Amino acid sequence: MGYYSSDGIAPHGGKLINRIATPAEKREFIERADELPRVQLNERSLSDLIAIAIGALSPLTGFMDRANYESVVTEMRLANGLPWSIPITLPVSEEVAKPLTEGNWIRLDDPNGRFVGVLELSQKYRYNKAHEAINVYRTDDEKHPGVQVLYNQGPIYLAGQVWLLEREPHPFFSAYQIDPAQSRLLFKEKGWKTIVGFQTRNPIHRAHEYILKCALELVDGLFLHPLVGVTKDDDIPADVRMRCYEILLEKYFPKERVILAINPCSMRYAGPREAIFHALIRKNYGCTHFIVGRDHAGVGNYYGTYDAQHIFDEFEPAELGIVPMKFEHAFYCKVSQQMATTKTSPSTPEQRIHLSGTKVREMLRAGILPPPEFSRPEVAAELARAMNVTNYEI
Ligand code: ADX
Repeated sequence: MGYYSSDGIAPHGGKLINRIATPAEKREFIERADELPRVQLNERSLSDLIAIAIGALSPLTGFMDRANYESVVTEMRLANGLPWSIPITLPVSEEVAKPLTEGNWIRLDDPNGRFVGVLELSQKYRYNKAHEAINVYRTDDEKHPGVQVLYNQGPIYLAGQVWLLEREPHPFFSAYQIDPAQSRLLFKEKGWKTIVGFQTRNPIHRAHEYILKCALELVDGLFLHPLVGVTKDDDIPADVRMRCYEILLEKYFPKERVILAINPCSMRYAGPREAIFHALIRKNYGCTHFIVGRDHAGVGNYYGTYDAQHIFDEFEPAELGIVPMKFEHAFYCKVSQQMATTKTSPSTPEQRIHLSGTKVREMLRAGILPPPEFSRPEVAAELARAMNVTNYEI
């Protein structure tokens, strides 16, 4: 199973992109830095720039122009027909866009004003926010966190290929910074032919562990790939989540079959469309399989429980080139006293323990430690510690 050769699975579009400046390019950019017009990136756009540069978003070499953007929004394909589900764009205000001339280099600064990259501006264009929201997020409700970002951003997109000045170690998780070219090598060194990628933005719980282990029964290795870009304010911070993954891996997984690495992208909460996007990113990292569980990348009640699985049927398997491993909603079954889904459990709804990330946050805030059916005690203790919950009841 899978779409791999002896060299591993092909990146999306066939070639792994590298947009990190060479030493000569970097010198030239730095020499010209003071004369170039500046655009300051927010955290979200910075995470896109990094993801493009390291090849995580191959075949993209920059921010989308109008033709690609329109095609992605309406057709879920790049202008050349390749599947792509999320627009990768650089929004700016009218004031910022006005003095910029197409064809010129733009200096990209990070949120602290540090020079981090260059954009060769090929186009600046206006776009329709409601149209993008309805197509990409399936809603224009401004309470949706992805739509909210869209509605609050500038009305002009800047397009063009980019260079990242330098690939710097992540300030907190450098040990887990494994970029696509490296993960591909690692998989090869380990002799893994089938690798399942796992996207997550929540502290790891028993349902995650269950589907990870089911998947791991069928493939050679697991690429545990939590997202550490921008998430919504009430999500658990990445440093806490990373500690939870470390704790779980240390005690409950065979170390030699798992690689923990960070995904620098930001969350969109676009549910089905983001599931395709997440799968393509993991394909670029060299994964042959990708886990899609219940309400993948969803938020609130905007998407049906399995919409993010159904969307894979809108493509030919070979054009995506990575195999989705679809899992039903997992819960703790009191009858068989183990994690299960309706596919494997004889329980009635009352005999199941369903817990969600949201519920766990509420429990911790109320001073209640999540039970072992939901969370391994070591992980629950770490969450309690991180949330300053000391007087908890079990
Ligand atoms: S997500 O936004 O990254 O999708 P989360 O970290 O909660 O959020 O989920 C990671 C993956 O685990 C997703 O594929 C999701 O569908 C899956 N998942 C989460 N909880 C469950 C569950 N109880 N049963 C089955 N799959 C689940």
